[in-house]
Parts: sequence; structure tokens; C-alpha cells
Amino acid sequence: MDRPQSRTPDDVVERVREATDVVQLVGQYVNLKRAGRSFKGLCPFHTEKTPSFTVNPERQMFHCFGCHKGGDVFSFLMEHDGVSFPEALRTLGERAGIEVEQRRARDAGQDSLYQAGERAARFFQEALTRPEGEAVRRYIRKRGLQPALVEQFGLGAAPNAWEDLSRALRQDGIPEDTLVTLGLAARRTNGSGLYDVFRNRLMIPIRSLSGRVVGFGGRVLPQPEGDAGPKYLNSPDSPIYHKGHLLYGLGEARAAIRRHEAVVLTEGYLDFLSLFQAGIEHVVAACGTAFTPQQAALLHRYTRRAYILGDSDPAGRRAAVRTAGLLLEHGFLVYLVELPAGYDPDSFVREHGAAALETRLREAPSYVASMKLLVDRRAGDLAVKERVVRHLLDDLVRVSDPLLQELYGKELARTFGVSDGVVEAGLEQRRNRPSPRGAAASVAAPMMAAAGVLGEAQQGLLRLGLSGPSWVDRLTVALDSEDFEAGAPRHLYEALRAAREADNGWFDRLETDADRSYATELALGDTPAGEPERLFNDYVAALKSARLEAAERELNGRLQAAISSGDRDTEELLLASLRELAQDRSSWRKRAAWY
Ligand code: CTP
Ligand code: MN
Repeated sequence: MDRPQSRTPDDVVERVREATDVVQLVGQYVNLKRAGRSFKGLCPFHTEKTPSFTVNPERQMFHCFGCHKGGDVFSFLMEHDGVSFPEALRTLGERAGIEVEQRRARDAGQDSLYQAGERAARFFQEALTRPEGEAVRRYIRKRGLQPALVEQFGLGAAPNAWEDLSRALRQDGIPEDTLVTLGLAARRTNGSGLYDVFRNRLMIPIRSLSGRVVGFGGRVLPQPEGDAGPKYLNSPDSPIYHKGHLLYGLGEARAAIRRHEAVVLTEGYLDFLSLFQAGIEHVVAACGTAFTPQQAALLHRYTRRAYILGDSDPAGRRAAVRTAGLLLEHGFLVYLVELPAGYDPDSFVREHGAAALETRLREAPSYVASMKLLVDRRAGDLAVKERVVRHLLDDLVRVSDPLLQELYGKELARTFGVSDGVVEAGLEQRRNRPSPRGAAASVAAPMMAAAGVLGEAQQGLLRLGLSGPSWVDRLTVALDSEDFEAGAPRHLYEALRAAREADNGWFDRLETDADRSYATELALGDTPAGEPERLFNDYVAALKSARLEAAERELNGRLQAAISSGDRDTEELLLASLRELAQDRSSWRKRAAWY
């Protein structure tokens, strides 16, 4: 989703944007009806019966008030077709008859990494067909992977040798540094030269969404004896590979994910391959890391329904629960699929077939229901039940979509036989204190849900800022970054300020889906009634006083600590700061009126 920034007005991106009308573009996919200054239609990104998808010709933006997706013409195409920014730019450029030359820029370095990745993949593939690939071929057969699948996913063999790959790639002119950066080779500690990292392994290339090889997973072959190292070796993160940002197989699976309106999440490469081969194609796997918020956001472009299909051992179940919480927070409907003891997805589908697995998917309990099953298995042990309910409340409070949160709250109450009131109180209590599990992920969302007075002031000011540069100027005089809550609100404030300074667009400055969603929701949402001037002053006052209060609380805390440890110097300093703060507090109100 990386977009280039800081561009000149005649930049090709700006020209394409100006030549493309958001209403016309979206209108090709969505039946739009005029509604006041905007257009409305049924959201193409989630299933709905009444239109909450809004397109605004003035701002040239869209936002869905149901699923919170939003953006400009480029985001629409990226979202709708699941393409990258450069692809969207090319498509819209063609439409508009604007030549979009291949950007070179800093990507020259990356290009050579991509080329080396491709070259290595080809090396492993060729090795698989040669005599030195025999052991891997045998293993592939044993795992029941058919030639067509091996071909489609470009599986290969790392020979049982120390330098074959390095030598071949060096001969092709690929520099040593490149091989080391990609983790394909390592430097010898004594003397010079490289040795291959992947040896005697089944090689699984990992491809980006646009199909380029960015890394590898290498599976060890079963050894009669001796130490063959860890079961998997994985490429390290590199400028072209960020494990936590991509999902294995998504490029191949995304069409099926859209079709099924669901995704099956597995842990292993081989689970993925086995399911895909069996015809369950709406599947992805993480690349040997715990599931990340970025992966959740990525998946959310394609579907909102996730089936977690882990191993049936305790570690697998723990991972599944963790992933479920994360997905819930990102607005997914989450189901946990159980397999009989001793099975993993691969062995289950090979032994019982795809139909049996499909039945399990269909009948999979929702996350909440599956947690209840877990409690029941402990004979309803009250302590376990209490822990589980608290855990679910911790998950639920972070659910961004208020409707989804309410629906899950109701399910939680019903399933565990507690009252709606107790669930609501539990959520309320959690909204008012920092997340017990740390600020792991999406910040925009809970803020939207729990918009109290502060939230209102913050949003009101940002809305004003969005309505024109003169408001941005006043905002930047009146407030600092720190006056806005960390996360989406602060990012939006900073984007508005930076865009004003550079005299170009703010939207491209937002880096995450959560930030963009927060921004388009504000940009296209209803404006609060009231005279802007009055609102501005009230809002500024509210934010300022909140910040000063927080600062005061913090200073007081440190003061107590200084007093009890007898640190007189610090005590003096803190007292002075507190006095200053008090003066600030009494004077901001007067000043607020001037802005
Ligand atoms: N993994 C890893 N390093 C290991 C073990 C596992 O990186 N030493 C990662 C791999 O991405 C692997 C995933 O965790 O695909 C799941 O592990 P596992 O279930 O053991 O692997 P499978 O892919 O299912 O392989 P197999 O069926 O051969 O055990
Ligand atoms: Mn397995």
C-alpha cells in the first residue's frame, strides 16, 4: 500500500487523480444514487441491504459507514481489484490516456533484489528436476503433492551441497551482498567467500501479491540419523520481504476468498498446499510468525469472515485464540475449526478428504461459542469460566465496529448465561482504562467507538481542518500533535499540517488502513450542527484542558515518588512545573478565544 509522497503538482499521480472522477469510476462497479451533495450505493466491500457507501464528488473520496473502508480513486481500485498502488496508477493512467512510465527511483536497488529472488527460485526449481533433486522429489511424492501443484507454486530443491546456489548466482553477476541480504548465502567466518544457507531442503518460494519471489521457506527432509537442523529455515526480513506483512498463498487464493466470502487461516506452508490441492482454495498461511495486525488489515480487503484452522495440540489452540482476538478487533467474524486430536489440517484433509474438512468448516463454532465449549470441557469450572469471559471482554472492547461489538456482546451474554448489563458494564469499565494487553493494534477503531467528549472535540477539529486550509492554519497555531490522541487522530492532524506546508494532498500521507478509514469517515461524515467559530473554540478548550490535566496527573505522580524517595531537587523542579501548568490552565481559555 506504499504510496510515493511529496510530489509536485504536475506529478503523474496528481495528473491521473485529476483526470479521474471518483463518481464515474465507482459508478462502474456500484449503482449510485444522488443523495444531497453525495452519492450513495450498496457497499462493494461488505454485504449490506441499505446503502451506507458514500461517494463525495467534491472531495473525490468514498467512505462506507458500515465497514469503514474509504479513500480516493486509487484506494478504490486497490481495494476493489486487490491490486497494488502502482498497478492502480497504471490502470487509471491508461483510462485517462496518461503515460505512466515505469518509476525507477529508489526502486532500482529493490529491483535487483527481486531479480535475485526470481533467479534463486529458478535455480531451486531446476535442481528439483536434476539428479541432485531426487531426495526432495521423493519427499514431495510422500507428502502427496502433485506435479501440477509443485509447478504452480514453484516448489524446488536445495541441493545437498555448500556452494551450488551461490556459485550459480555469482556467475550470473549477482553480487555477494545481494545473496547475503536475501539470506540465501552467508559469509564464511574464516577466509573469504560464501556458503549456501539452504541445503538439502524442500524449497517453498514466498511470493508477494504481485507474484514476485521475495523469500523462501525451506523444509528439512526426514533424516535417518544425524542433525539436519531446524524443521524450517526461513528467509530473513529484507527490503523486499516483511514476514509480518504478507500471507503465504494470498495471491493465488484471493479470487477464491472473494468468491467464498471467507478465508481459512492455517499455520503451515504444507497445510496451505495440501488444502489448496484438495480444492479448498480460499486458504492462506502465515510465514512462520504469529499473525500480525498488518496481516489482519490485508485480509480485511478481501473478506470479513475467517476460519482459524490450527493444529489440535495445546500450542496450536493457544495460537488460534490469540489470532481470533486480533481478527475480532479488526472487524472479522471469527470461527475456530476443531480437528480431532493428533491431526493437523494437512493430515486431516489427506486422510478424510476435502468434503469432511468442508463439513467441519461449515459447522465450526464462532469464537465465542468455541470458548464456551472449552469451558464446558472443564465441567463448567467457574474459575475457568470467569477467566474466559474476562478474556473475551478484553477482546470485545477492542472491536472497532460498534455494531459488531454489540452483536458479539449479546452473543457473549447469551452463550455464557450472563446478563447484557454485566457485559455492557464490563466493556464500559475497560473503555476507561488502558488496554490490559498493551496497545497491540488498531488505534483508530476503539476511539471511534468510544467517542466521548474528548473524541468529539478531536473529531470536530479535524473535520474543520478537512474543510479547508484556513482552518488547518488555525489548528496548527492553536494545537500541537500531542494534543491529539496517539494513533489515527494524531496522524491525521500531522498529515493536514504537513500537506498545508508542502501545499499538496494529505490523504497520501496516511500510512495505514486504520488511519485512512478514520480520515475518510470524518471527511464524509455529517458535520455537527453549530457555528464553526464557536465549535472551534470550545473544542480547542476541551482538548487543551484535557492535555493539561493529563500532564498534571503525570507530574503529581512523579512528585509523590520524589517525595517518598526523599529526592528534594526533583521535588523542587516538579513543584515549579506544576505551578507553571496551573498558570497555563488559567490562561488557555482566554487565549483560545483569539485563535
Ligand atoms: N515453522 C518455522 N520453523 C520451524 C517450525 C515451523 O518457521 N522450526 C513455521 C513454518 O512456516 C511452518 C509453520 O510454522 O509452515 C507451521 O509449522 P508446522 O505445522 O510444523 O509445519 P507444516 O508446514 O505443517 O509442515 P509439516 O506438515 O511438514 O510439519
Ligand atoms: Mn503439518
